[in-house]
Amino acid sequence: MQVISNPTQGEIKFAAKALKNGHLVSFPTETVYGLGADATNEKAVDKIYVAKGRPKNHPVIVHISSLDQLENWAREIPEFAIKLGSAYWPGPMTLILKRNSQAMDFITGGQESVGLRVPNQHVALALTREFEKLGGFGIAAPSANRFGSVSPTTAQAVEEELGKFLGSEDLILDDGQCEVGVESSIIDCTQVNPVVLRPGAITKEMIEQITNLTVSLKANKSEVRAPGLLDSHYAPQAKVILGLAAEPGDGFIALDQIPTPVGSIRLASPASIEEYAKDLYQALRIGDQLRLTQIYVVEPEGNGLAIAIRDRLAKASSGKRG
Ligand code: TXA
Ligand code: MG
Repeated sequence: MQVISNPTQGEIKFAAKALKNGHLVSFPTETVYGLGADATNEKAVDKIYVAKGRPKNHPVIVHISSLDQLENWAREIPEFAIKLGSAYWPGPMTLILKRNSQAMDFITGGQESVGLRVPNQHVALALTREFEKLGGFGIAAPSANRFGSVSPTTAQAVEEELGKFLGSEDLILDDGQCEVGVESSIIDCTQVNPVVLRPGAITKEMIEQITNLTVSLKANKSEVRAPGLLDSHYAPQAKVILGLAAEPGDGFIALDQIPTPVGSIRLASPASIEEYAKDLYQALRIGDQLRLTQIYVVEPEGNGLAIAIRDRLAKASSGKRG
């Protein structure tokens, strides 16, 4: 495995060729780092499952360079999905649409739908474009972490998570810390109205504004299809507990105006909800590096991105409050 920092256009072309040749390429997006493979190559996609230790038949998101590529993967695309794509792509939004024959079972987990996203990150976009120039159709990429653990928001985190599971010709493209820090909003567009399956930076209000439709939130139900697996999702090694009651030696994460409980170790003091989302996963990783056994996290209040943060914290903590 080779890490390429601040990749040049030539190096991005090289990475696109590696994808075309069936290798894995981890790349930054504005949300989290993804672990990419040619979405039409079953053997390559298989390598993602092996590297992540992810159970088969979990669907993966296909990354494309623009709204124009949607029809390569989806059929019967509703008007409201086109409106959403026009408004928020490139951006932190995944649309679930009825699949066409390009989207094989190894991408959709055997479902009749496919997840598609145009990422808003210059390396990611250049990689999808170069890949399409080589005749590729899309890059399958789940978050670049071992199954159940915290998504990586830096290339170093990808290397720690997956370094020893990647092959000699696989690549990691390093372009610094991800801007958004939590995974994309997932919107089911196969029903009459949009349904948010995973909350993210594209909020319910933003979807309603563009579509003029009533939007429902089904956050905890459909993000992981096999129930029971939810427990360990987005979780670091340390036990995550929601609340303020950190004891000496425990980790502590909260907005900056909340004081640090005596003796606890402050892992992040974000000044805004955006900064909270951006720094959360890295703060949990630092807690693990410090070998903390418990991390107390005070959830942010409010709507919008705060809903996405509370959703991930509910999963990281399995709802445990202290
Ligand atoms: O921000 C993101 O979305 C990142 C970056 C790399 O793009 N990717 C990401 O992928 O978070 P992943 O695989 O870790 O999470 C994608 C989620 C999975 O939980 C999967 O169940 C859901 O998307 N998903 C994908 N295709 C689906 C489909 N056809 N129907 C329902 N859920 C789907
Ligand atoms: Mg993931």
